[in-house]
Amino acid sequence: MKPIKSGELWLDDKGVHVNAHGGGMLVYDDTYYWYGENKCDSTSAAMVGIMCYSSRNLTDWKNEGVVLPVEMNDTTSDIIQGCIMERPKVIYNEKTKKFVMWFHLELKGKGYSAARSACAVSDSPVGPFQYIGSLRPNAGKLPFDMTEEQKAVFDTLNLENFKEWWTPEWREAIAKGLFVKRDLEGGQMARDMQLFVDDDGKAYHIFSSEDNLTLHVAELSDDYLSHTGKYARIAPCGHNEAPAIFKKDGTYWLITSGCTGWDPNEARMFSAPSIWGPWTQHPNPCVGPKSEITFGGQSTYVLNIPGKKDAYMFMADIWRPKHPSDARYIWLPVQFKEGTPVIEWMDSWTLDYFDKQE
Ligand code: DGJ
Repeated sequence: MKPIKSGELWLDDKGVHVNAHGGGMLVYDDTYYWYGENKCDSTSAAMVGIMCYSSRNLTDWKNEGVVLPVEMNDTTSDIIQGCIMERPKVIYNEKTKKFVMWFHLELKGKGYSAARSACAVSDSPVGPFQYIGSLRPNAGKLPFDMTEEQKAVFDTLNLENFKEWWTPEWREAIAKGLFVKRDLEGGQMARDMQLFVDDDGKAYHIFSSEDNLTLHVAELSDDYLSHTGKYARIAPCGHNEAPAIFKKDGTYWLITSGCTGWDPNEARMFSAPSIWGPWTQHPNPCVGPKSEITFGGQSTYVLNIPGKKDAYMFMADIWRPKHPSDARYIWLPVQFKEGTPVIEWMDSWTLDYFDKQE
């Protein structure tokens, strides 16, 4: 059994460092499919597209190639080369037998201002994925769990009164939905994102919204290709990015980061009895040296490894903005101490770690 050594170069079947950043994993037909951003040497913009790698053991990775390429010619396309495609995630729809990808899309030349979610679909886990389109989710919809009282306060919020950011009054207004209101008509901003399929087959899209100030959890339609309009907010004005979610024994756990660009910061953790909350914040799940900067990384996914009891693997990216393709990966087992997730750095570990826990 080969060891997992976080932070080192991870070579694929061609001897090249795996290029699947901000990634996520799909388990299908006893195979792991790892999807991520292809990053080139000089820019973080998308020059190639979304990559897929496959493996039966999580350590030997076959490069399955570019499963959603950027568009090279049609300059009207959302995904023209030079746009930003981040944090792709793929889920399998049992009913339609389709593989559905969502990712964070920024339009070429517009920095991070577009804040859109894009969707693509395929008949095979290794693509090709057909690009469907992009949007800002939940246009015209209010969080479904807003009380009449909260709605009355929301109705009084006026952007004009809060020109200065980061004041206590502004924070309070953000928490009450100032930016939800601002973006109500055109749809809610959506940047760092995650997908989650629950035990009943319902899928959810979790994303940093409201200028990264508040996370939204939004229900996807039965075919996973659109939003139903039902959504709730998580940690209003909590400033969270990089959501990674998993479920254990009926509890939903959410690991996030703060917002410091490509620099690492301290991870946060929340739990809830339902995907709709209420979410309770816990201390940083990372412990030991460099735990205050998530060991130099930023969360991207938590993989529930099938066939093993309580086997959850935390996945994070060590970004290298000056040389993006040299970004590295952190994969560490999630330990449970009195039921609470704990993540400890390990220079090297093997998957039989989980067998020893039983
Ligand atoms: C942090 C996010 O988590 C990344 O996905 C990326 O959007 C960078 N910010 C860009 O600075």
